[in-house]
Amino acid sequence: MNTFAGPAFSGRTSQLARRLTDDGPGVWGLHERACEMAARGEPVCLLSVGDPDLPTLPSTIAAAISSLERGRTHYAPGRGELSLRRTIAEIETRASGKPCHPDEIVIFPGATNAIYSVLACLVDPGEDVVVAEPMYVGYDGLFRALGINAVTFPLDAAGGFALDLAAVQATVTPATRVLLLNTPGNPAGNMIEPAQLRELAAWCLQRDIWLVCDEVYSMITFDRSHTSLRKAASVLDNVVVIDGLSKSHAMTGWRLGWTVSTLALADRLLEFTSATLFGCCQFVQDAAVHALTNDEDYIAGVRDEYRRRRDSVCQRVAAIPGLACEVPAAGMFVMVNVAGTGLDGLAFAERLLDQGRVSVLPGVGFGESCRDYVRISLTQSVAAMAPAFDRIEAFVATLES
Ligand SMILES: Cc1ncc(COP(=O)(O)O)c(C=O)c1O
Repeated sequence: MNTFAGPAFSGRTSQLARRLTDDGPGVWGLHERACEMAARGEPVCLLSVGDPDLPTLPSTIAAAISSLERGRTHYAPGRGELSLRRTIAEIETRASGKPCHPDEIVIFPGATNAIYSVLACLVDPGEDVVVAEPMYVGYDGLFRALGINAVTFPLDAAGGFALDLAAVQATVTPATRVLLLNTPGNPAGNMIEPAQLRELAAWCLQRDIWLVCDEVYSMITFDRSHTSLRKAASVLDNVVVIDGLSKSHAMTGWRLGWTVSTLALADRLLEFTSATLFGCCQFVQDAAVHALTNDEDYIAGVRDEYRRRRDSVCQRVAAIPGLACEVPAAGMFVMVNVAGTGLDGLAFAERLLDQGRVSVLPGVGFGESCRDYVRISLTQSVAAMAPAFDRIEAFVATLES
């Protein structure tokens, strides 16, 4: 008989779980409050999330159903279905002009998990990742989960959140393991110049640093097309590109993303994902093949729709005294500077939700430099956003009086 009687059950969780306990600036709390108000039937206009309102292509849904009916409900290969990896490799080869082998691609349930897996395979706890500020809010949780340090370089807010090469290079130290870039960027829709990508890839290679580029908004560009890090870089040894279907194909809930890397890193990622996931759904991967091979008109339509929304939002913002914005070159968001109203972004968003029933995301969630900003998502039609902007205009007018 085991006579051990230890202390009473403490419910203690791991350091990882405790690191994830949120102590952020309450940005998502505001969005959750907006969702609760909407659930109670209040007429809230949600402009705070990056989940496209557009439908997934109907024939992609049909492809998933047909796949399910064919019994594609089993474990899939750890690296991902060959048909999907071949499809992505062909797209990559065409886009970059550099041959991409299907085995250099690993499929994940969404870009978030792909980034997590890449960082887990490249960075040890306590080591540094260099990343832009402002940055996509979702990165913070990944850094915390892995116990890695985020060291930030500033984007130039006054210059459309452009990347300053010198600022990046001044931030990198011998302790840097990974430089994580995001182009087109969330929250600002900024696009990194191909020449900068090329220079950074070579510069990082010389310093034994991995260059990882999150390109999930690659297909939602308005003024010029996206140049992938893989296309820009001369040598691909230290290059990892991450993409997925969530944004471009309005497939957030399907959870489908991928990495393109060297074969050696893809092998490590395969081991990691085999240990932690054991493969992604077969029928989702079949649908992804369909989505990626039948998307020319669909993507053009998605791009036109977001462009219309961007133009409408920027016009409305420009006409409201106290608000200002740069016109984003890409993506699904507009960053609005609210300093002219006398409020910071957090107070503006809180009061706009209470008084105007419109939810926007306080910019501080993306970094301290965006304290005076709110982020408006382009996830409602121009017609649906019009009354929201009437309310924003009326709310701002109350601040001036
Ligand atoms: C820059 C960026 N990366 C990754 C993601 C997450 O993508 P996924 O839905 O594929 O996990 C988002 C979602 O908002 C994002 O904005």
